[in-house]
Amino acid sequence: MAKDLLHQWKVSESADLYGIKEWGAGYFDLNDKGEAVVRVRYPSGIVEVSLMDVVQGINARGLGSPVLLRIQNLLDMQITLINESFRKAMKTLEYKGEFRGVFPIKVNQQHEIINEIIQFGKQYHHGLEAGSKAELLVALAMIASTESPLICNGYKDAEFIDLGLQATQMGYKVFFVVEMPSELPLIIERSRATGIRPNIGVRLKIAAKGGGHWSDSGGDNSLFGLTATQIVDVVDALKAEQMLDCLKLVHYHLGSQIPNIRDIRVAVQETVRFYADLVEEGAAMGYIDLGGGLAVDYDGSRTNFVHSMNYNIGEYCLDVIEVVMQVLDDKGIEHPTVITESGRATVAYSTLLVFDVLEASRTETRDLPEKLPEDSQELLLNLEETLRIVNVKNLQECYNDAVYYREQVREHYKLGQITLRNRALAENYFLAIMKRVVTLKAKIKRMPAELENLESALFDVYYGNFSVFQSLPDSWAIDQVFPVIPLHKLNEEPTRKAIIADITCDSDGKLDRFADFHDVRRTIPIHDLDNLDEYYIGVFLVGAYQETLGDFHNLFGDTHVVSIRINEDGSFDFVAEQEGDTIADVVSIVHYDPKTLIRLFREKAELAVRQKRLTVSERRRVMDNYEAGMNGYTYFKR
Ligand SMILES: Cc1ncc(COP(=O)(O)O)c(C=O)c1O
Repeated sequence: MAKDLLHQWKVSESADLYGIKEWGAGYFDLNDKGEAVVRVRYPSGIVEVSLMDVVQGINARGLGSPVLLRIQNLLDMQITLINESFRKAMKTLEYKGEFRGVFPIKVNQQHEIINEIIQFGKQYHHGLEAGSKAELLVALAMIASTESPLICNGYKDAEFIDLGLQATQMGYKVFFVVEMPSELPLIIERSRATGIRPNIGVRLKIAAKGGGHWSDSGGDNSLFGLTATQIVDVVDALKAEQMLDCLKLVHYHLGSQIPNIRDIRVAVQETVRFYADLVEEGAAMGYIDLGGGLAVDYDGSRTNFVHSMNYNIGEYCLDVIEVVMQVLDDKGIEHPTVITESGRATVAYSTLLVFDVLEASRTETRDLPEKLPEDSQELLLNLEETLRIVNVKNLQECYNDAVYYREQVREHYKLGQITLRNRALAENYFLAIMKRVVTLKAKIKRMPAELENLESALFDVYYGNFSVFQSLPDSWAIDQVFPVIPLHKLNEEPTRKAIIADITCDSDGKLDRFADFHDVRRTIPIHDLDNLDEYYIGVFLVGAYQETLGDFHNLFGDTHVVSIRINEDGSFDFVAEQEGDTIADVVSIVHYDPKTLIRLFREKAELAVRQKRLTVSERRRVMDNYEAGMNGYTYFKR
């Protein structure tokens, strides 16, 4: 891996290695000092801030890592991008309707995020999507413009419907999207009881399916939505109640992170057919809601790979509008307001997780003896010989032998026939052979399959101060890949290869899938920790879904959250600061009373005094420690 000594590693080589220009979408890059930077656009030009300057600012405020860093400007810029791209596409294609974006609260429910979307999005009448009663209550309080749609998906009981109807009476644009046939009679009944006419939508169970992680949200087997037959029933029921003028919207959601633009076009086309037929049935209509699915290019490859997308937002908007027009213009139907429920694409960029590396465990061979004593155990002598003779011609054979001998050593150890020291020596010989095989295999033409990924078995383990389960749950649950890079030292060659383990002591608590242009790489190139006081890593594009789905595995709680706003003059302000959970917070979640725990422990300390195991002043120190721990951060403190 190390290049020749004369080669001076360049920042541009790090940029290529980590692909930051590709997945960074113009927001993230590296500066000449070898630090990761964030860039935001102002009318006067682009402003750049080093993420290490932000980290120093966080440390100076006494918060430390791990920390979730929000960059408010990026959220604003994505809202602008989505709205302006639709406006531009509509203008280019001479579309007569309008665009309205809505943010699905489930994607990131945090108050700060919803507030920013509503306040900044006001200029575009950006709305909200609620999928539960709790989300509806949030949306009703937060929504700021009567022009912004409030889309109600999910299960709706009478209380839910009454709240939505009352908001409609107050002038808000609330849409009840019927997802189950049973919902319609309740909406009709509550409308009759309150005398308020609802805006009704129907969620379609379309035949089209998207690729990506959530492809089951579309297609015949999707859990939600109405079939063609059930939609006909809705039309007939509304007709019978003289409420067909209330039916205004069709909606579908193909699933999140749709990587292929072709799937999006096919789904839009099918949906617009339904829309046209409902117009012809006499429904009022006027709105077509295309759900979420707009992807994020996590690996920067611009392909239809599951972590990528083979289109950009501009192309997405043009394709959607073009398909809507093709179907409706043929039939002479007026252009409706197009709504999208893009969650991931709106928030993913705005947040990154920053953590420090605590230590590294290297797969390094210790110094091996010049020569083993002749009376050494046979398996050890075999391993020594294998290391001595391995060459390009016998590579595969030596590899197989080494694997066999190591297995035998482990078997003998179990039976008590090999000492601990000899087992350690054997493991070191094995590692030395594998390293030699990796060096030599570069010289062979036809690579045996077994040897192809050998490097990835020789990785180091870097221990990061974070919990995958709390901060990056999708990486564990659905193998989601996020861009991961060191935030500094990028003017130096990263000479090691590693996976990153968290501190949950769970074997699944690790990052071992990293963004790459071709498929996924199993290790990350990383710097040697020798002579480094601190080493920070950033996991980028984590603003969507991660905060909501995180859990308290091993009682690691919410991390600190810090939000910054970058100013036009290149300075930045800390605009919000949320301290992470204390241990008292997380034990309370699992129904311990922190005060009771302190009392129980105090009783133990007092008993120890009586038993003369502790002096009174030692007891006091022990209790101070315990109580400080209870009120402290759940993560590792340096
Ligand atoms: C109904 C609905 N709309 C929108 C979304 C958001 O999708 P995305 O994050 O892909 O934009 C979801 C997410 O699952 C959803 O269920």
